[in-house]
Amino acid sequence: MPVPVEAVLVGAGNRGGRIYGGFALANPGELRIVGVVEPDEARRERVAEMHGIAADRQLRSWEELASRPLLAEAAINATQDRMHAASTRALLEQGYQVLLEKPMATTPQACLDLVQAAERHGRVLQISHVLRYAPFFRALYDLLRGGSIGDVVSIDWRENLVYWHYAHSFVRGNWSNTARSGPMLLTKCCHDLDLLVWMLGPTCERIASSGTQRHFTSTVVGPEVPPRCTDGCPHAETCLYYAPRLYLDRLAENSNSFAVSAITLDATSDGVMRALTEGPYGRCVYRCDNDVVDHQVALLQFRGGQAVSLTMQGTSHVEGRTVRIDGMRSTVLANESRNEIVVLDHRSGIQRKVELARPRGGHGGGDWGLIQAFIGALRGDRPDVLTSGRESVESHLLAFAAEEARVSGTTVDMAAYRQRLGAQILA
Ligand SMILES: NC(=O)c1ccc[n+]([C@@H]2O[C@H](COP(=O)([O-])OP(=O)(O)OC[C@H]3O[C@@H](n4cnc5c(N)ncnc54)[C@H](O)[C@@H]3O)[C@@H](O)[C@H]2O)c1
Repeated sequence: MPVPVEAVLVGAGNRGGRIYGGFALANPGELRIVGVVEPDEARRERVAEMHGIAADRQLRSWEELASRPLLAEAAINATQDRMHAASTRALLEQGYQVLLEKPMATTPQACLDLVQAAERHGRVLQISHVLRYAPFFRALYDLLRGGSIGDVVSIDWRENLVYWHYAHSFVRGNWSNTARSGPMLLTKCCHDLDLLVWMLGPTCERIASSGTQRHFTSTVVGPEVPPRCTDGCPHAETCLYYAPRLYLDRLAENSNSFAVSAITLDATSDGVMRALTEGPYGRCVYRCDNDVVDHQVALLQFRGGQAVSLTMQGTSHVEGRTVRIDGMRSTVLANESRNEIVVLDHRSGIQRKVELARPRGGHGGGDWGLIQAFIGALRGDRPDVLTSGRESVESHLLAFAAEEARVSGTTVDMAAYRQRLGAQILA
């Protein structure tokens, strides 16, 4: 049996405790969590208990971890977006090999700095662009790169967020406010941009974008609407976003739902209602401090002349990306929620369904694939992690450039943008 890689979990929230912790519990021969760093006592204690972590390896902040001798070979950084840059830099300097949640940082310069820090210290820095490891997107990559569909002319890429997920994360939750997290294309669509860069190369030449915060504002409702759903809202029956229904439905679907575990550790009806009465997720969606867009479109032109439209919207009936790729010989139609990819051959008219492996774990198998790649790189079984800091930085730059284009109403020339940042590191 192989020796498990030992790691410290930095940030024991939804991703840390549930996904990385869950992988370690299910795969004890692969990964062992031997330390936990988390200021929230209940979360810290829960992870410590689940993984049998000794008291002197239960810390309250990444700063504390970075000031101590190494607790393990690896650190899994699942803190919130704005904490990524400083904490990862310190952990790399301290000697940890780091698996870092996306986005790698919330400014372009900080992203570039992290790549340089990892390379200067000779450490693994893997970014959690989980979708590259998902069989569905791997199959799309193989189709596009394999050449059988002919020269790719255009791609329509849609990130369709189901309505309650948008409200949970981007109106009431952690990614609702640009100053606390980052712009939407960075916090939600850095996966999509990463996949596009993976498939087409780091060769985007121009980017334009538009999008607004159209719906979730206080101007949409009248003064009769209270600040919280639990304060006797007169629209409780008809409002799609009435929090008790929204979260109790999620709980009924799956007691391990990410939406429920984000609001409470007590996955019962009483626990959910308590969290909604007291915490941020019970607020009326029209009375929050959100300022991120609820829909956005980016238009990208790549060096090969391929035109790509990327649409993000948060009012879908079902969660999942839909993609159309037009090649000179075939058209590809992909539907993530159905786990279905169809290739339509232009000449013969034949439609072929692509055989897809059954995913294991969240994000269509991407979560576990990501962790396995990290473990493989540390064990020396594979030369790289596929989504290193260097490999991931371009998609982040595209997200920042798209936001600049959206806000300024201009088209951003990527060569000039990279030069302005001094991003020669990409050369
Ligand atoms: N890869 C993906 O597809 C994916 C999906 C969801 C979220 N994410 C990213 O994962 C990260 C974590 O998201 P989450 O939903 O788990 O958030 P979360 O808020 O549930 O977890 C973050 C945890 O960090 C802890 N923390 C705060 N200060 C700390 C400190 N000084 N030291 C250590 N820990 C500290 C918080 O108490 C919290 O428990 C975010 O950057 C998010 O954008 C990635």
